[in-house]
Amino acid sequence: MSSLSGKVALVTGGNSGLGLASAIAFAQAGAQVVIVGRRQDAVDAALQAVGHDAVGITGDVADLDTHDRVISEITQRFGRLDVYMANAGVALLEPSSQVSVERYDRQFSTNARGVFFGVTKALPIMNDGGSIILVSSIASAKVLEGHAVYAASKAAVEAFARSWALELKGRRIRVNVISPGPFDTPILEKLGLASEARAGLDAAMAAAIPLARMGRPNELASAALFLASDESSFVTGANLAVDGGMALT
Ligand SMILES: NC(=O)c1ccc[n+]([C@@H]2O[C@H](COP(=O)([O-])OP(=O)(O)OC[C@H]3O[C@@H](n4cnc5c(N)ncnc54)[C@H](OP(=O)(O)O)[C@@H]3O)[C@@H](O)[C@H]2O)c1
Repeated sequence: MSSLSGKVALVTGGNSGLGLASAIAFAQAGAQVVIVGRRQDAVDAALQAVGHDAVGITGDVADLDTHDRVISEITQRFGRLDVYMANAGVALLEPSSQVSVERYDRQFSTNARGVFFGVTKALPIMNDGGSIILVSSIASAKVLEGHAVYAASKAAVEAFARSWALELKGRRIRVNVISPGPFDTPILEKLGLASEARAGLDAAMAAAIPLARMGRPNELASAALFLASDESSFVTGANLAVDGGMALT
């Protein structure tokens, strides 16, 4: 039997990058997968890649109505949820002196508020013994240039996880964080850097990583699959760095 056989798994931001790789891994492990993303075309393309009758829902996690729609759709279709991977996130990098209120709010409403209400609204339909995985970032612990607001939004996520691991212990719902280091995903394109600056960023990141390269999305997915499944049945409140050792430097 596959490790997620018979489980229903939700991945926000499952239409791209680390979320898509995780959605594919969950489906291959036997889960019924539901993905949420903003762009309809990317959600449709992701459903093709995930296969296994995956379900796609289009919506903005910063808009709390999205979570009500997601929960209602999952309740109607499957009646329950076993795995919630809160992965959708946005990074807007710049010196603190240049951060506008709009860009500050966009990062916190997506990365922190969207996670808080997405998870708490899902709790009534989560099975006891389920698994919640929150995707943070190496940036919350390691000071990286231009990352102040993004890092703070991810630090909030880590604080939620610690509280929830204890709040939900009575239901045996495990809550863990994955802190990725640099991974080669579309998030880097979304930074909008010119090609020279992008090449410089890639080189600087690779140089800062003890394993001397950026991560591959399937390497993040393996960690997510571990935390989603009973393979990690005695792991809660953990923060798993998947960063090629970068946090050590
Ligand atoms: N790649 C890295 O180096 C790295 C490092 C540390 C942490 N992370 C974290 O890992 C997570 C996944 O990032 P990624 O690298 O896979 O980036 P990505 O390819 O850009 O994926 C981000 C996903 O989040 C979704 N998303 C963003 N804002 C959303 C919103 N308001 N509502 C709904 N969905 C939204 C995107 O959907 P649309 O594309 O449809 O907008 C996309 O599916 C993020 O939380 C990110 O902060 C990434």
